[in-house]
Amino acid sequence: MNDHVNMNVVPDVSAHFDDATNTISYIVKDSDSDHCAIIDSVMDIDYAAGRITYDHADALIAEVQQRGLTLDWIIETHVHADHLSAAPYIQQKLGGKIGVGAKILVVQETFGKVFNEGTEFQRDGSQFDQLFEDGDTYKIGTMDAFAIYTPGHTPACMVHVIGNAAFVGDTLFMPDGGSARADFPGGDAGVLYDSIQKVLALPDEMRLFMCHDYGPNGRDIQWETTVGEERAHNIHVGAGKTREDFIKFRTERDAQLDMPRLIIPSLQVNMRAGEVPTDKDGNPVLKVPVNGL
Ligand SMILES: [Fe+2]
Repeated sequence: MNDHVNMNVVPDVSAHFDDATNTISYIVKDSDSDHCAIIDSVMDIDYAAGRITYDHADALIAEVQQRGLTLDWIIETHVHADHLSAAPYIQQKLGGKIGVGAKILVVQETFGKVFNEGTEFQRDGSQFDQLFEDGDTYKIGTMDAFAIYTPGHTPACMVHVIGNAAFVGDTLFMPDGGSARADFPGGDAGVLYDSIQKVLALPDEMRLFMCHDYGPNGRDIQWETTVGEERAHNIHVGAGKTREDFIKFRTERDAQLDMPRLIIPSLQVNMRAGEVPTDKDGNPVLKVPVNGL
């Protein structure tokens, strides 16, 4: 895997923070061409009102257009449970291929049942343009990128490594934030620990970009650190914390967490690559399964 690492390639990374969901979306540009990728976009929802809008996605689109960039990829690090993806909206405006981890099939099977989806909901990942397997490589302009399979938070999580930058999704938070929960269906604290070790095995100077930050202890929002910093200081997995320590801590903590505010709409939309489901008349509609989660 680390054969693919090329620290001499330094992509230009532009971060867009969404303060409604504490998500960071990225535009990652090739330093040698005008090609780029967007990682983990956000579609805005006022869930109480059932209203979807596109301010965050429009800001990403405007930046790509103003800089005259060609969008090669729209990447989802995983099926997010706390925000809706704007991937199809962005694709419609800018093109690009939507990619996610191949284990999306497991997520679709699990939540297809939870939401009692009919056969019109395909559980074969066909809503996406590309399903990445562990170690798969792809191009963003002249840059080589690759995906590392990192399950544990969800069964389909991938970390994407592009030159000297890795987009870690929800495998890791900033060193003072620790790690993401591992108690969703298909999640597993021990598996997450093992996946995090794959990230920590990357070169010390590798830049790491978070998908979320919650500004713990009142600090300002941050999203960039390094492998070396995480290995030394991450409060959940750094400084030699053992797998057993991590599983015990993570399991006890997760038992106390409420479900994310937007998990019900997020899963229904994100397991469809960002498309809102429709009723039999073709109207966009979301379900709330009672006691289903
Ligand atoms: Fe997540």
